[in-house]
Amino acid sequence: MPDDGLETGAETLLYEGKAKRVFATDDPRLVRIHFKDDATAFDGAKHATVGGKGEVNARISAALLRRVEEAGVPTHLVRVLGPRDHLCRHVEIVPIEVVVRNVVAGSLARRLGRAEGEALPFPMVEFFYKDDALHDPPISDVHALAFGWAAEWELAYMRHAAKVVNEVLSAFWGGLGIRLVDFKLEFGRFGPGRLLLADEITPDGSRLWEEGTGRHLDKDVFRRDLGDLGATYRELLDRVLAAEAP
Ligand SMILES: Nc1ncnc2c1ncn2[C@@H]1O[C@H](COP(=O)(O)OP(=O)(O)O)[C@@H](O)[C@H]1O
Ligand SMILES: [Mg+2]
Repeated sequence: MPDDGLETGAETLLYEGKAKRVFATDDPRLVRIHFKDDATAFDGAKHATVGGKGEVNARISAALLRRVEEAGVPTHLVRVLGPRDHLCRHVEIVPIEVVVRNVVAGSLARRLGRAEGEALPFPMVEFFYKDDALHDPPISDVHALAFGWAAEWELAYMRHAAKVVNEVLSAFWGGLGIRLVDFKLEFGRFGPGRLLLADEITPDGSRLWEEGTGRHLDKDVFRRDLGDLGATYRELLDRVLAAEAP
């Protein structure tokens, strides 16, 4: 499957994950992040290639990161380089996935025996240890502190920033007739005492339910075999672009 964009093969690949490749640039403080067409679930156990997914995710993530930045939460995004490539600040990723929930779904429903769809009385921020082999287990502050995954101020900052991001994104998706059920963020260190929102904000790491119909407009379409992921993501991008249009 030919990968369009800026794939030259001559660059240094720093990391390859399930959804993106991170390349070095001439400037050690910057990286190029390339969004792949791969869809994975259950820690990579389920895998497919979905044409156009990388481009859709890159465009949605850029639009959302810009809005978050405008709301005062610094992000890693410097600028968009191509249809599926972002120029970003090279951060040291904090190995904690920060999840914000507005409605019960997914692992929270399973773990605590709650019905999926139950509205939460307040937005909930949870931390998970980012480790595929351990299936990203939920952790508390004490684990992060004891094992050196994050400092106390970093946990406080991530919790606060995640709530601000939730307000921005809930308003944005709400304006498109879409309910933001939950989403995952990653943060990274960029110089001493500075954390940036990094990675991506995409329907891969979010649950987005269409108001009225309850239709899933996110990666649960793939996880739960609910339909055509590529078509769902393109529809979502069309709605985002319509909202972006002046
Ligand atoms: N600005 C950045 N600098 C360095 N690494 C980053 C940055 N943004 C994201 N990453 C990391 O890039 C890797 C590749 O992304 P992805 O394919 O989503 O990985 P994963 O399989 O862990 O989800 C991840 O480990 C992610 O944490
Ligand atoms: Mg990822």
